Amino acid sequence: MIPPVRQPGAEEARRWAAALGDDQAPATEDAPRSRFAWCVTGSGHYLEESMALAARLPDVDLFLSAAADEVLPLYGLRIEDLRTRFRVFRDKSASAVPVGRLYAEAYHTVVIAPATSNTVAKCAFGFSDSLPTNMFAQAGKLGIPNLVFACDTEPVVITKAPRSSDEEWFTLRPRNIDLDNVERLRAIDFCTVLRSAAELEAALAARLKVLRLAWV
Ligand SMILES: Cc1cc2nc3c(=O)[nH]c(=O)nc-3n(C[C@H](O)[C@H](O)[C@H](O)COP(=O)(O)O)c2cc1C
Repeated sequence: MIPPVRQPGAEEARRWAAALGDDQAPATEDAPRSRFAWCVTGSGHYLEESMALAARLPDVDLFLSAAADEVLPLYGLRIEDLRTRFRVFRDKSASAVPVGRLYAEAYHTVVIAPATSNTVAKCAFGFSDSLPTNMFAQAGKLGIPNLVFACDTEPVVITKAPRSSDEEWFTLRPRNIDLDNVERLRAIDFCTVLRSAAELEAALAARLKVLRLAWV
């Protein structure tokens, strides 16, 4: 006989987190709507600027894509060091298990910064097959505001090379499809698209004001 299905509780969530090597603090123990869920994707472009903004916010949990897990250390950002400032959740499950934290109602805002062209495309077309794209989709379904910093928004992008590279800077030309996807993303519910670090900072400042919070 198939046993009845029930929602996972705090203990199951803790065991899942331990199995995935994630932070184990149950979201149910956080005050309602008290935290930022900050998703990081595998973009070197604006990675340092995005992480610097995340570090200035109160109560931030990081949700990494599998590509972010690989790209962060290439830019000198070690996951162990991030854990001293943030709770960190990694993309280790096919069903994006850490997304369950959104349902505990602990998060008031989801941020994706920096967002790769890949993640922008998936979000714009409604795909959810990574931790950041699942966070984006589920936040939209729960009415939680999403702020997405789409980095490849200009016809010519000068981007920093990883530390392992001999070149310091690269020039990239995002394709029309990348630029079109950024425009498509603007039409998605509960989504605000930002095109520069300054725009992201201003959007976060506005969000803090609404929430009666301050930069740290
Ligand atoms: C060092 C490095 C830097 C990268 N920088 C970018 C970038 O700036 N923008 C981008 O769209 N993709 C970039 N990529 C490629 C993405 O990581 C790749 O498309 C990945 O599949 C994205 O997965 P995600 O969107 O789930 O994070 C970079 C890859 C590497 C190895």
